[in-house]
Amino acid sequence: MATKFDMSDLIRNDHFIDGKWVASASGKRFDVTNPATGEVITAVADGNEADARAATDAAARAFPAWRDALPKERAAVLHRWHALMLENADALGRLISLEQGKPFAEGRGEVLYGASYVAWFADEATRIYGDLIPQQQRGKRMSAVREPVGIVAAITPWNFPLAMIARKIAPALAAGCTVVGKPAEDTPLTALALVHLAHEAGVPPGVLNLIAASRENAVPAVAEWLHDSRVRKITFTGSTPVGKYLARESADTLKKLSLELGGNAPFIVFDDADLAAAVSGLLVSKFRNGGQTCVCPNRVYVQSSVYEKFGDMLAKRVAALKVAPATDPSAEIGPMINARAIDKIARHVDDAVSKGARVLAGGKRLTALGSNYYAPTVLADATSTMQLSCEETFGPVVPLFRFDDEAQAIRAANDTPFGLASYFYSQDIRRIDRVVRRLEAGIVGINEGALASEAAPFGGVKESGYGREGSKYGLDDYLSIKYLCQGGLE
Ligand code: SIN
Repeated sequence: MATKFDMSDLIRNDHFIDGKWVASASGKRFDVTNPATGEVITAVADGNEADARAATDAAARAFPAWRDALPKERAAVLHRWHALMLENADALGRLISLEQGKPFAEGRGEVLYGASYVAWFADEATRIYGDLIPQQQRGKRMSAVREPVGIVAAITPWNFPLAMIARKIAPALAAGCTVVGKPAEDTPLTALALVHLAHEAGVPPGVLNLIAASRENAVPAVAEWLHDSRVRKITFTGSTPVGKYLARESADTLKKLSLELGGNAPFIVFDDADLAAAVSGLLVSKFRNGGQTCVCPNRVYVQSSVYEKFGDMLAKRVAALKVAPATDPSAEIGPMINARAIDKIARHVDDAVSKGARVLAGGKRLTALGSNYYAPTVLADATSTMQLSCEETFGPVVPLFRFDDEAQAIRAANDTPFGLASYFYSQDIRRIDRVVRRLEAGIVGINEGALASEAAPFGGVKESGYGREGSKYGLDDYLSIKYLCQGGLE
């Protein structure tokens, strides 16, 4: 059996339920388009409540056998899946570029990133320990074991169409859970391709089920899972309003939730920072996926004494970034995902400029390339009255805010309901210790802009959500503790 596929072999446009590719119950389909050109790639099955229920039925049937499989058997399946992802990294990377728009090098990089979670959790599957509790009473033995929570519903975003679903499915399967999933309507093809490889790797029928749904049908399809008491956990990456909706709507069946929600990341440059390193760190963190990343810096605070110098250094590097479709091998930034995204970016920049921001680089749409392109932008003299200071822009825009002292920078950085990532650059070790303790965020980059790793606990505080993905903590979200008390042992 061939295991190395071309991109076109990986394109699937039906749901995957109970080990089979099936059309939607309604027979309806929706178009998936290439954001670089607006061309339709294919029409995908449009799932509704009936498809979501069929997926849960399959996951429920498959659960007892998968739960009872030996951890090393589950690990072996995950390792095979990981190997297939690596073998098909080029084809998957091209598919990501096609439907999501990021340059091929980034698309391929995302495959390796997503695959690293699969390998990590394949190993973790064999390390799910319990505890023997020190004896409290004669004749009684107390212990704690960890068990899979049950059926997990995974709902994933378009910005990392492979990595986000891989880092939800992998720990769920490692823990012994079965999965029903729905990728974002903009990018279902990568997730369907990944499920195709999981099937090839030997994931048994019903253990992993994926349905696609259009914007209109996504709500009723997901609501089916929210209200079904057989689904014991929801794992979601996406916006804070949707995360709150999921928490509210699933409250009746008290599901376990992991919510990786919006950020509004601050990036602070103190006057004792290595400015060249800070510029490089900012470029890496801000322009990853064209700025369409939850952990992208959204507000850059620069100390007054280095403000102009930092702005000049940054603007030169940003103006040199190459914007082009993913098919151009020299592309560093591709198109934004859709018209709504590009409109929001333009609205934020226009609002900032109307309130006094100075454009140091970019500041405009690149219509000659297509309707979804925006020039990498640096804005000086940003203030807290501007929309981009309190809303995530999710695009290639760097607003520079000015501050005078450390307390002011920390106050401004924390002045947001969100708390996902934060970054700062300083060479003063006492300051580093103080700032780390005071930043209200789940993730802190200290003189570093590239934070992603399968070994790290990814997640936020405040309205950026709860739960952690990756690392040794990442499995806890898919397990529950059972306390055993055995008597009559005297
Ligand atoms: C995200 O944007 O939600 C994920 C980014 C990452 O994994 O670093």
